[in-house]
Amino acid sequence: MYLYSNYNNNMKLSAQFVSKLEDNLPSTGKITCKSPSNIALIKYWGKRPVQLPENPSISFTLDTCRTITTLTYKKRTVFSDDFNFEFFFEGKPKEDFKPKIQKFFQRIEGYVPFIKQYDFVIETENTFPHSSGIASSASGMSALAYCIVAIEKELNAEMTQREMMQKTSFLARLGSGSACRSLEGPITLWGYHKEIPNSTDEYAIPYPFEVHENFQNYRDTILLVDKGEKQVSSTVGHDLMHGHPFAAKRFEQASENITKLTSIFKSGDIDAFIEVVESEALTLHAMMMTSLPYFILMKPNTLSIINKIWEYRKASKSKLCFTLDAGANVHLLYPENEKETVLDFIKRELVVYCQKGQYICDKVGLGAQLL
Ligand code: DP6
Repeated sequence: MYLYSNYNNNMKLSAQFVSKLEDNLPSTGKITCKSPSNIALIKYWGKRPVQLPENPSISFTLDTCRTITTLTYKKRTVFSDDFNFEFFFEGKPKEDFKPKIQKFFQRIEGYVPFIKQYDFVIETENTFPHSSGIASSASGMSALAYCIVAIEKELNAEMTQREMMQKTSFLARLGSGSACRSLEGPITLWGYHKEIPNSTDEYAIPYPFEVHENFQNYRDTILLVDKGEKQVSSTVGHDLMHGHPFAAKRFEQASENITKLTSIFKSGDIDAFIEVVESEALTLHAMMMTSLPYFILMKPNTLSIINKIWEYRKASKSKLCFTLDAGANVHLLYPENEKETVLDFIKRELVVYCQKGQYICDKVGLGAQLL
């Protein structure tokens, strides 16, 4: 198999294979990929070098919130020991994004050594509003990683789709941890869990067990409560788990919650799903409130929305619940059969808490695609 014959350990290509690749590199080309964002049900919060999670996480892959990236590559005529790329966001050069990509290239170079042989132009755009407070790192890094692996694939007809997905997820992880969960769908798992075969800290895998039809086509409507810059970057946030008084217990709890979610996905028990998912969201924020320095990333409107959801659930038979990222926006998760009633509820009661009344309707999706 390609992986075993051409990689030694950890996705690295063998020296022999690298020289074969380098002899056959295409001189120029263009690859476009679209890759979605994802929303974690069991949260990744805490990592160790390099980009390895302290606990396993599970997410719904989204559908509408995507990054579309075109990578144009041209073989260099003069050797240089540096990466060379231009970066355009929505048609305009964006210098402040370059250090993140430079770091990404440095981290992945050992696995895709041919990237130093090319000059790249990276053109990217998001389907969601730029300043929506929605992290574009998951969709952005997974899209770029996919374009790079697609160059390798061009040289290697033998590389299977599964191997391609694994390597892409592996590289995406080195750009942004949660990005490794965006490549496939509708549910992915990242991080070793003793009850989940083939689970690994190195890349995400498609959730391997049965999922009840109650969770098919699940909806995620993102209420944009605060569209400003993140108060604390994820990287800084993850660091706060080092020496955090509750860290060890939290990592254990996340693994237990994965076990719970596995049986919930099988049985279709949405009430139990709500309990795990909302508890995960609040625990993530509790970790930030109890670290040093401490942060409150919710806004008053975040809390108002949560209370409204709880009231609504009490007063109706709705299975609507919420989850949160490391920010003030609220993700509303609900079964497909409630899509009209929940939309009514949002318009009637929740829109007032959204900045400029904005929200994004999304649902679970199937992952990245080459175009
Ligand atoms: C709260 O993946 O953005 O969204 O690995 O530093 O890029 P880096 O962090 P990132 O962290 C995401 C954290 C989270 C939870 C989650 O998506 O699991």
